[in-house]
Amino acid sequence: MRRNIVHPGADKLRYEIREIAEIAKRVAEAGIPIVWENIGDPVAKGEMPPKWMKKIVTDAIKEDSVFAYSPTKGLDAARAYIARERNLEGGIRITPDDILFFNGLGDGISHLYRNLNPRARILGPDPAYPTHSSAEAAHADKPHLTYRLNPENEWRPDLAEIERKIRANKDIAGILIVNPDNPTGFVYPQETIRAVVALAKKYKLFIISDEIYSNLAYEGSGMKKLASVIGEVPGIAMRGISKEFPWPGARCGWIEFYNRGKDTNFDRYARSLVDSKTLEVCSTTLPQRVLPKIMGDARYYPYLAARMRRYERRATYARAALSIIPGVIVHKPRGAFYMTCVFRKGVLTKRQSLPMKKGLKRFIGSRLAGASPDKRFVYYLLASTGICVVPLSSGFNSSLQGFRFLLLEQSDARPADQPGRRRRCGGPCVSALVPPAVARSSSRRASARHERRDRCEAAPTEFRRPRSREPPAVRGRHHPADVRRAARDSR
Ligand SMILES: Cc1ncc(COP(=O)(O)O)c(C=O)c1O
Repeated sequence: MRRNIVHPGADKLRYEIREIAEIAKRVAEAGIPIVWENIGDPVAKGEMPPKWMKKIVTDAIKEDSVFAYSPTKGLDAARAYIARERNLEGGIRITPDDILFFNGLGDGISHLYRNLNPRARILGPDPAYPTHSSAEAAHADKPHLTYRLNPENEWRPDLAEIERKIRANKDIAGILIVNPDNPTGFVYPQETIRAVVALAKKYKLFIISDEIYSNLAYEGSGMKKLASVIGEVPGIAMRGISKEFPWPGARCGWIEFYNRGKDTNFDRYARSLVDSKTLEVCSTTLPQRVLPKIMGDARYYPYLAARMRRYERRATYARAALSIIPGVIVHKPRGAFYMTCVFRKGVLTKRQSLPMKKGLKRFIGSRLAGASPDKRFVYYLLASTGICVVPLSSGFNSSLQGFRFLLLEQSDARPADQPGRRRRCGGPCVSALVPPAVARSSSRRASARHERRDRCEAAPTEFRRPRSREPPAVRGRHHPADVRRAARDSR
C-alpha cells in the first residue's frame, strides 16, 4: 500500500471470548469434547425460547411488512412500548424519539465509541466487557481507562478512585457502568449509582449504563435501572433482547437517551449517532415487530423469574464449590449468568502445568509466548479437560488474574459421567468442580472416592498446592457434605 490503510487503533480490537473458541476447535480435533463456558449464549447452551414466544415470531413472519426496512430509529410501536415501560420506573420520562435501535447492542456499542470525539474518554470498569473496552481503546488509540471493581469488597467500586481519576484526566467525558455486570455478575447498589450520577453532575460528564442484563437481576439484588436515578444528568442506557428472550441471533439492541435537552453538546453527540445509523438505513425489522408482543405478554416476566431462579441456584452451588479452594476469590453474582473466579497474587506460577496430549502440548505452548499466568491456566485447563473458560486479564482487560465461566450449563451431569467421555482428567465442568452428582451421593465411600477424583481432576498436578501447605481449616472441605453446607450457608 502506498499509504498505511490500517486504523491506528486496530491492534486494540480484541475479543478473547471468541478467540479462545479457535483454540478449543484444535483441542476438539485432538478428540477432547469441549464444555463451552466462553460465550454467553443461552440458546447455544441449550436454553430454548418458550413455545409461546416462538408462536409470536412465527405469526409475525407471515406478515410481508417484516421483510421490509424499518425506520432508521426503529419501528414506532417498538419504541413507543419501550418508552412507556421506561416511564414506569418513576424517574426520567422519555419519548419514542429518545430511542435508537441497532443490529444488536454490540453494534450500538461500536457506534457509540466510533462517533465520540477521539479526545473524549470513557472511564469503565475493570474487569471490563471487552466490546466496550476494546472499542473505547480503539477510538482513542490509547489503553482503555478503568476503575477497579474490587473482588475483596464483593466487586464494589471505590468511588474515591473514580473521582481521583476524573480529576486527574480532563479528557474523561463519561463513566460507564455495566449493570448487572459482565463478567462479575455484580449489581450496582442504588446508592452507588446515585454517587456515580453525582460525580457526573459535579464534573459535567455523561453516564453510559449497559443494562442488557437488567431484566435478569436476581430477586433481592436491589437492581435499579439508570432511568430511576439519573435526575437531570445526560445519560445513555443500553438494552437488547439477546440475553432476555433469549434471541442473540436476532441482532437487536437499542439505546435510550436521557436528558438530551439538558446539554447542547450531548444533544449534538446524540444526533451524530442517529445520523451515523441513518447511513446504514435501519436495523433488523422482525425482532422489533415482535418486541412489544413478547415483552407485553403476561407470561414474559414469570418466565424470566424462573430463569433467574435457575441461574441463582447454579451460582449458589458454584460459589460453594469454588470458595473452599484456597487461593481463589469468588462471589455469588446478583444478576446475569456469569461468574468470575479470581486467583490471589502468587497462586499461579509459570512452573505449573496440567497433563495433556503430546501434540496439544506443543500447540498450546506455541500460543502462550508472553502470556499472562491466567491465560496460561485457561489454555492448560482447556487442553487438559476440554473446559473452555475465558481469562480475566486478556479477555476482560483486567489487572486481575482469573477466569469467567457461565451459569448456563443445562445438565447437572459432570462431563466425565457422560457417555463416551474420557475418564482420566475428563474434568468436571468448572461451574461444578464438585458436581451435584457427587454432592447427592449418599454413600460415604462413594463420596470419598469421588472426592479423591475431584481433587485429582479439578486441580491436577502442580496447579494444585501441595496438601501439606493447605491451611488445616480448609483441608478436607471438598467433601460433598461440606459443599452442601456451604451452599446452604451462602443462600
Ligand atoms: C454487557 C454486554 N453488553 C452488550 C452485549 C452485546 O449484546 P448483543 O448480543 O445485543 O450484541 C453483551 C453480550 O454478551 C454484553 O455482555
